[in-house]
Amino acid sequence: MHNFTFSNPTKIVFGDGQIATIGREIDNQHHVLLMYGGGSIKKNGVYQQVIDSLKEHKITEFSGVEPNPSIETLSKAITLAKQENIDYILAVGGGSVIDGAKLVAAGVKYEGDAWDILAKGAKVRSALPLSCILTLPATGTESNGNSVITKRSTQEKLPFSSPLVYPRVAVLDPSVTFSLPERQVANGVVDAFVHTMEQYLTYDVNAPVQDRFAEGLLSTLIEEGPKALSDPSNYDVRANIMWAATMALNGLIGVGVPQDWATHAIGHEITALHGLDHAQTLAIVLPSLMQHKRDKKAAKLVQYGRRVWGIESASDEEVIDQAITKTAAFFEQMGVPTKLSGYGIAADAIDGLVAQMEKHKLHAIGEHKDINPEVARKILEDAA
Ligand code: NZQ
Ligand code: ZN
Repeated sequence: MHNFTFSNPTKIVFGDGQIATIGREIDNQHHVLLMYGGGSIKKNGVYQQVIDSLKEHKITEFSGVEPNPSIETLSKAITLAKQENIDYILAVGGGSVIDGAKLVAAGVKYEGDAWDILAKGAKVRSALPLSCILTLPATGTESNGNSVITKRSTQEKLPFSSPLVYPRVAVLDPSVTFSLPERQVANGVVDAFVHTMEQYLTYDVNAPVQDRFAEGLLSTLIEEGPKALSDPSNYDVRANIMWAATMALNGLIGVGVPQDWATHAIGHEITALHGLDHAQTLAIVLPSLMQHKRDKKAAKLVQYGRRVWGIESASDEEVIDQAITKTAAFFEQMGVPTKLSGYGIAADAIDGLVAQMEKHKLHAIGEHKDINPEVARKILEDAA
């Protein structure tokens, strides 16, 4: 196992009815910027629960943070926060709202253009305190320091990370996920699954704790994901998916082990150019990437096939074949197509995606830094 440092400062408040606690978690001396998305929280009652809990607080609202949040929208929130002397942010929504709130938290304290934090890697030296109410289990952003922001004008989607933007408190009430459309339920399961795979399906460094945690999350998502579609009002199913998604990207399973993240890097280019949901892009890339990297990932692929899918009496090569097939079939079972054509994207779009990777200097991604834009081209061609 590699050396590591692990710290996750986010306080998780989990369970039915727990949104009512947020007012106690935030000092009522703060002027809170309440950030949310396109209005789902007004339809499902979450907004009212938050307002009721924050009745002692001064609140300013910023709504309209869109899926794949844009710097264009978030710059307006930064301006508003500065004008109103905001000193605390509460994000209420899915990954997009929470990621957007992280950029606002950092951007308010940054002297220059907040896009520099993404495009130039400008260091985040200070950020407003931030908490969140999660409404869509998927990204893990509720208890990590990552954020992914899009610049619509140049069709770029870039990540940044800082320990200063971990949410202080994250409220996870599984019952708020009942109002999710099926597509977003499925997206969440696929995203959490692929987060786990990015930290697990690499090469062996003799880290059985991390491996077994990861396998537990994968098995849970495989068992519970389809139930969320077939038995949508089952609270326990929603709770297990919500906790699995948080655990998949709160840093725990990734400590001391190699990590891949090539599926995400390629996927972000697909969203940037073609607007697909984040998880849809992952479902396209991962099975093909597993096939292309089957030799270097062989030991882990066999372990994954045998332990997670229970494939027994087969040769190692057969286990790998079946493991890849079953992974793609699982995504399809969740209603998430695994080919570009499933989203109406023709093979001639691949040139543009490869060019974007060149532009973003993605020349050495994956756990062995051996995926460059030309390798990505082959992965995408086999996913056409
Ligand atoms: O905007 P509203 O009206 O709230 O509607 C949203 C949105 O349309 C809706 N929704 C959310 N909760 C709901 C609900 N509808 C009904 N009931 C609810 N309870 O769902 C739609 C999608 O929301 P979004 O926040 O975009 O989805 P998700 O949570 O999947 O976030 C995706 C974003 O997170 C980034 C992705 O790249 C993408 O931009 N990621 C962030 C990561 C991180 N910070 O660690 C890691 C991930 O790999 C990912 O890249
Ligand atoms: Zn993801």
